Amino acid sequence: MAQTRRGFLRNVGITGGAGVMFHTMGALGLAPAASAETPPFSPLDRDALNGRGKRHVIVMGGGIAGMTAAYELLKGGYSVTVLEGRSRPGGRNWTVRGGDTYTDMSGQTQRAGFSKGQYMNAGPGRIPQMHVTLDYCKELGVPIEVFTNQNADAFLYRENVPGSLNGVPVRQRAVKADVHGYTAELLAKATDQGALDAELTATDKEALIAYLRSFGAINSSNEYVGGGRRGYDPQPGAHLEAGTTLPPYEVSDLFRSTLGNYFSFEMGFDQAMMMYQPVGGMDRIAYAFAAAIGARNFRYNAEIVDYQNTTDGVEVVYRSPDGPKRITGDFAVNTMPPHIAAKVRSNLPAEIVTALGSVSRTNAGKIGIEYDRRWWEEDFRIYGGITNANTNIGNMWHPSYGYHGDRGTMIGYYNTGANANFYGALTPAQRLEEAVRQGRKIFGDVYGTGITGSFSQDWASAKFSEAAWVGWPTAVGGRTGTAYRSLLGATRNIYFAGDHLSHAIAWQHGAMTSARATVQQIHERVTAG
Ligand code: ALA
Repeated sequence: MAQTRRGFLRNVGITGGAGVMFHTMGALGLAPAASAETPPFSPLDRDALNGRGKRHVIVMGGGIAGMTAAYELLKGGYSVTVLEGRSRPGGRNWTVRGGDTYTDMSGQTQRAGFSKGQYMNAGPGRIPQMHVTLDYCKELGVPIEVFTNQNADAFLYRENVPGSLNGVPVRQRAVKADVHGYTAELLAKATDQGALDAELTATDKEALIAYLRSFGAINSSNEYVGGGRRGYDPQPGAHLEAGTTLPPYEVSDLFRSTLGNYFSFEMGFDQAMMMYQPVGGMDRIAYAFAAAIGARNFRYNAEIVDYQNTTDGVEVVYRSPDGPKRITGDFAVNTMPPHIAAKVRSNLPAEIVTALGSVSRTNAGKIGIEYDRRWWEEDFRIYGGITNANTNIGNMWHPSYGYHGDRGTMIGYYNTGANANFYGALTPAQRLEEAVRQGRKIFGDVYGTGITGSFSQDWASAKFSEAAWVGWPTAVGGRTGTAYRSLLGATRNIYFAGDHLSHAIAWQHGAMTSARATVQQIHERVTAG
């Protein structure tokens, strides 16, 4: 007898548990099959190499893609040599601590003046829950902690906007309560006035209004009148202190200010809380990879100047402190930024060089500012999270580590594009001065008081990076075009990997998943041969 759908689901639920039931419902089209799983990957099966000579893979670049490739290849029974131009592992994964010195491509040198225990992540700073980055943290024993990507008590600031909110720092919770409240009010009123009669039944309209009451905290007359969601002054306290709420911002001022548009950020697939960071700095991941790969497999200060496919393998020439060196291998995994890989001498076919060079570059900048007290916690009760502005600073990050400590390091700006280029063109001292000038608009004089150290990074002028990340322009077909696709497989014995060859560009996850896909291709080729 044919099983009813409900009966089938009940049986699956009994034998397989809720997870199986949920996935089965997805397969039947009854529930959204949103997966919380990371992309599938099986470590290379080293037994499949039995009887074959050990293959040597040259990994060009010791960033996250290169180290993931090297690490997985080693686990799979390959021998690897990682060539890294910098004197440290990680590439853009870079944590700056007190005493670190850095010279950019225009010759400006900075020495980070941070105190012991203080640091800034100059590159990646946050990890979404679903990213394989966390799997590697687990596998490599890198402890993680929460990175606060959204904080209702952090500020928003908009200037050069119409209305009374121009140039006024406002708490995110107040803006969110008000934009939700007014949106709910307007939609509820439109619904009541029949504007949605063609879309909804009477029952659906009731359900929508019930939802809007909860979403926007509107009253039984469908009006938004503010309330506790937006904050109090004074706050509720002991005995008779019920707290006092302030009236909402004026509706027209609020929407025209664009302040509410910020909240789409926290709904992004890869920006939604919870988010994480390694304890002690993002480079804990880089150093854990480097330790697992082993110093004997790693060559630092190795600047690649030539790479060639040969009859039966690859040959790479690099500059080293002891002069030029030549190394051969069976395969190479080229993880250099594509715009750099295109510039270095090679015998790659012209169309591959053109494909590598066809990316568009995005710049990003960050400044870390250390203070002798954590005024954002003490004076403003902001414990982590992001303050966002429409000025040249873009985003400020309140540190998600070291709470209640003596000192703290704010990210004074994290910006991209034109704003990053603007700061990149300044000297480090001018960058700090401008960041403080902007920060004062939001936090007042405290922002310029008690600064004990700073460091700023401009990724466009960083040797071996020359950008923060890249994109695939529509002119070359984006990530479905021939240029992108031509780099996804082998060019004879040379393979490519990096976040630029993924759908998670500008994330370590992209570098890792791309590297995994590449080592799988190498392994399939070797074990098939
Ligand atoms: N993934 C980068 C970030 O979160 C772009 O800022």
